[in-house]
Amino acid sequence: MKSLIAKIILIAFVFVSFNNTVLIAKGGKAKMKTLVVYYSATGNTEIVAKEIAKKYNADLVKLEDFKQRSKFVLYVYGSYCALKDKGWDIKPLNVNLKDYSKVFVGSPVWAGRQVPAINTFLTNADFTGKEVIPFVTMGGRNPAKSIPKMSSKISSRGGKITGSFAIQTGGKTPEEISGVVKEKISHFTE
Ligand SMILES: Cc1cc2nc3c(=O)[nH]c(=O)nc-3n(C[C@H](O)[C@H](O)[C@H](O)COP(=O)(O)O)c2cc1C
Repeated sequence: MKSLIAKIILIAFVFVSFNNTVLIAKGGKAKMKTLVVYYSATGNTEIVAKEIAKKYNADLVKLEDFKQRSKFVLYVYGSYCALKDKGWDIKPLNVNLKDYSKVFVGSPVWAGRQVPAINTFLTNADFTGKEVIPFVTMGGRNPAKSIPKMSSKISSRGGKITGSFAIQTGGKTPEEISGVVKEKISHFTE
């Protein structure tokens, strides 16, 4: 009886291994997941992040500041840190980047730059072998130095930039923002 069970387990193991090998061989590599990491103080970047996650069936992670700050301090000190390219403490992330092959990283534009929480995330992430797509939302029309600065941090952490985009949110309703996102990401491959 014991030897029969051992044989069944062995056959099942060989079958599963063979199937996995075939799947990987057919696709070139096993299909891995997409992650959307973002920060949002007033909800605009969150709308964009959720729209991307819907399209790519992606996991969604929101960066949270470790310290609670008043709106005034958040915006004034935040703009100063953004301008100086500084990070600040964020809450620990419940995600392992190793599980993902494609990562979207979204930031609001503050003082023409990406926000401090995004700086902290980008400085500590290992993007080796991953496709990374930075995006920003902004009140005006000019993403200024945000996208180039995010891209350079991502590249220095091993990521391959395969696209980027900026979305103007000023004067737009949430529905209008969602509509712009669909159009912006329509050309990215699955
Ligand atoms: C502190 C602060 C600084 C900002 N600086 C800029 C800026 O330099 N250029 C710009 O176009 N928009 C700026 N904005 C507008 C935001 O980038 C825009 O509203 C963005 O969509 C907010 O994203 P969120 O709702 O996800 O926080 C600023 C907003 C705040 C609160």
